[in-house]
Amino acid sequence: MDPLSQGGEASSARREPLDAIESARAARQWWDRDSAAYLDEHADFLDGALVWGPEGLTELETRLLGLDLDGLRVLEVGCGAAAGSAWLASQGAFAVGLDVSGAMLAAAATRDEHVPLVHASGDRLPFVPGSFDAVVSAHGALAFMGDLHATLREVRRVLRDGGLVVFSVTHPVRWAFPDDPGIAGLTATMSYFDRRAYVERDPAGNPVYVEHHRTMGDTVMALVETGFSIEGLIEPEWPSDNEQTWGAWSPLRGGLLPGTAIWSARAINSSTG
Ligand SMILES: C[S@@+](CC[C@H](N)C(=O)[O-])C[C@H]1O[C@@H](n2cnc3c(N)ncnc32)[C@H](O)[C@@H]1O
Repeated sequence: MDPLSQGGEASSARREPLDAIESARAARQWWDRDSAAYLDEHADFLDGALVWGPEGLTELETRLLGLDLDGLRVLEVGCGAAAGSAWLASQGAFAVGLDVSGAMLAAAATRDEHVPLVHASGDRLPFVPGSFDAVVSAHGALAFMGDLHATLREVRRVLRDGGLVVFSVTHPVRWAFPDDPGIAGLTATMSYFDRRAYVERDPAGNPVYVEHHRTMGDTVMALVETGFSIEGLIEPEWPSDNEQTWGAWSPLRGGLLPGTAIWSARAINSSTG
C-alpha cells in the first residue's frame, strides 16, 4: 500500500503471504534507505508533537495516555526520528524510542531532548517484563510486522498490569481502494477481506517493501487474545485546514474515507486475565 513512504526501486508489487522475519528485514532496509526522504518531507509536520497520522491529530488533543504524563514510562515502537518521544519527554515522561532502522535512529539522536534510543524490531523487545506504563506507535511498526499476535504479546510482556498500548495504523478500509490520492483512490477495487501482505520485490526477487493488512475485527481479536481490553478507537476526520497530500493521503480522500485508526487498549492483570 505504501501510504506513508516515498516510493522506491521495486520492480513488482503484489499481494502475497509473507512471514515476520522477511517483513522485518524488508522494513529495516526500506526505512534505512527512505528515512532521509521521509524526514525531508514530513519532519516539519511531525516535530514538536506526538502526531497520530497525516490528519494531524496529536496526543495533546486526544490525551489517550492521560492528562498527567509526568514520570510515565513510555516506549515508542517504530519511533522514526522520535518526534513523538521528544514531545513525551518534554511533558515529563520517561520516553524510550525504538526502531528497526539505524538511519531513523541516527536522525533521532540529533534531537536536544533526552530520549534513550534502542535499535531493535518491535516484535522482539529487549526489556524485562513490566518495564513500561505505556507503549505507543504512530503509524510505526505494527503494519510492517508479519505477526500481529506475536507483536502484541511482546508489547503486553513489557507493559505493567494496567498499562496502555496506543497505536495508529492505516485505516483498514483503505485496503479496498487503490493507493491513489486522487479520484482513482475512491473506487473500491480490492477485497477488504484479502489478508495477504502488500509486497514490493526488487529485480532479484527480494522483498523491499512490505505492509500487512488486518481488518477491524482482526485487530479487535488480536488485542483480546493477547491480554488487552479495548479502551477506544478513534477514526480522525480530515481537518479542513489540512491541505497536504501525503502519499495516497489527501483532502479529497480524507473528506470521504477514514485514513487512520487509532487503537487504545489496556493490559489486563496477568493474574486475573
Ligand atoms: C511511517 S514511519 C513512522 C515513524 C514515526 N512514528 C512518525 O510518526 O513519523 C514507520 C517507522 O516504523 C519503523 N519500523 C518498521 N518496521 C519496524 C519494526 N519491525 N520494528 C521497529 N520499527 C519498525 C520504521 O523504521 C519507521 O521509522
